[in-house]
Amino acid sequence: MTFMHWSADLEIGLEEIDRQHRWLFELTNRLHDAIDSNTTVQPGIEDALEQLVDYTMNHFIIEEELFERLGYPETEAHKAQHNVFCRNVMDLLVRYDSGDIVNTEMLDLLKNWLLHHICTVDKAYVAHFRAHKVAPNPLTPEPKPVN
Ligand SMILES: [Fe+2]
Ligand SMILES: [Fe+2]
Repeated sequence: MTFMHWSADLEIGLEEIDRQHRWLFELTNRLHDAIDSNTTVQPGIEDALEQLVDYTMNHFIIEEELFERLGYPETEAHKAQHNVFCRNVMDLLVRYDSGDIVNTEMLDLLKNWLLHHICTVDKAYVAHFRAHKVAPNPLTPEPKPVN
């Protein structure tokens, strides 16, 4: 069963960011499947968690670099949301490492936070990006002029 379904209303309209958000959903689904498979093979869960945390941190860095570059006025507030999420995930990881069962809490946090953050907080930067004429793929460098 798919844990998180991607739908068109989650798209913010910036190609590369949407691709990253879809991949965050996919990684969350992989973590869910690793947990759901109910095996005693912990590395499956740990690998899925590690990939998800790494990718999420990279995604945040990419967004935050774009904010700095484009002078987004809500940069600090947005970063604060990313930081709260990181802290919450780290707290759960510490508990996981000490033997607590945090599977449901982790999946709930990911699902609720990602949905809210993408639909509300990330969507809020799109108008500013567009006003600064950011292309659909903001990470692609401008093509170099041909001599
Ligand atoms: Fe995002
Ligand atoms: Fe964000």
